[in-house]
Amino acid sequence: MTTIEFSYETCLDGSVKHAWTVDDCFQGRDFDFTKPFLPDRIAGVSGITCLSDTEKLRLNQIRGNSYCHIFAFVEEYIVPMVVDHARGDVYGDETRLWSLLRFAEEEVKHQEMLRRAIEQFGAGFGTSCGLVPGREDVAGVVLGTSPLTALLLTSMIEWFTQLHYVEHVRDRAELDELFRDILRFHWIDESRHARLDSLLIDEVASDLGPHEREAAVDELLELGNAVDGLLAQQVELDIDALQLATGRAYTEAERDEIRTYQRRAYRWTFLVSGLEHPNFVRIVERLTGSGAAKLVQAATALST
Ligand SMILES: [Fe+2]
Ligand SMILES: [Fe+2]
Repeated sequence: MTTIEFSYETCLDGSVKHAWTVDDCFQGRDFDFTKPFLPDRIAGVSGITCLSDTEKLRLNQIRGNSYCHIFAFVEEYIVPMVVDHARGDVYGDETRLWSLLRFAEEEVKHQEMLRRAIEQFGAGFGTSCGLVPGREDVAGVVLGTSPLTALLLTSMIEWFTQLHYVEHVRDRAELDELFRDILRFHWIDESRHARLDSLLIDEVASDLGPHEREAAVDELLELGNAVDGLLAQQVELDIDALQLATGRAYTEAERDEIRTYQRRAYRWTFLVSGLEHPNFVRIVERLTGSGAAKLVQAATALST
């Protein structure tokens, strides 16, 4: 169906050669709370007129914390999903099996890295920041969709993870160094995972007809709507956290302004940057007749 120039073998090789631990990433460092954590493309704070520069910095840092949380949140289902695919051919190709088991293990490591980031943030930030609950429920919903849907969601996430780091964080020396490293170490693994997703997508899709593939894209967009609802909840928690951190009660008009900027920034970060990612669009184009047009439509609706 497709010409792919990578294989389970090359992915396994890369995983062994570029292996890292959570300690390699943290190196005993703490966050520097005098610096922003995220580029403004992701944090979306610079245009908010009702906030001072100090308040914008605090909101940027709150967004750094929730960025780690939302990632851990949306990646929770990947471990059981990949283990299931590995188990599907447990006595077959050993390279495939080993490669997928490392994929799952690396995602467990990401969860540990992101959890540690949230813990250290909590210890250093000074006031508490609410985070949306229910990660296991969301994982259950994703695992209840078709295998192709869950794989498409994974692929989309792995591609936007890379885009965030390479295009918006890698060359930004003004951002906190530890936070940048967290995104860098994540990217090292995700660049390989995106390839493994493509191999798994091809395996799963080869048994499906055109209707089932189209249905998987529709289901993916429904999951996107559910994620959008979670992001909206997180925005409210972030505004509460900002009030607590700055000691200033925002008026309804100020809350509205912050909300508008933040809704747009969250949507771009966790949905639009994936729906529009050229490599992800290409994957959907290869699978379906009208899937790519649906991605454009969804991305446009989320960008207004
Ligand atoms: Fe990950
Ligand atoms: Fe991954």
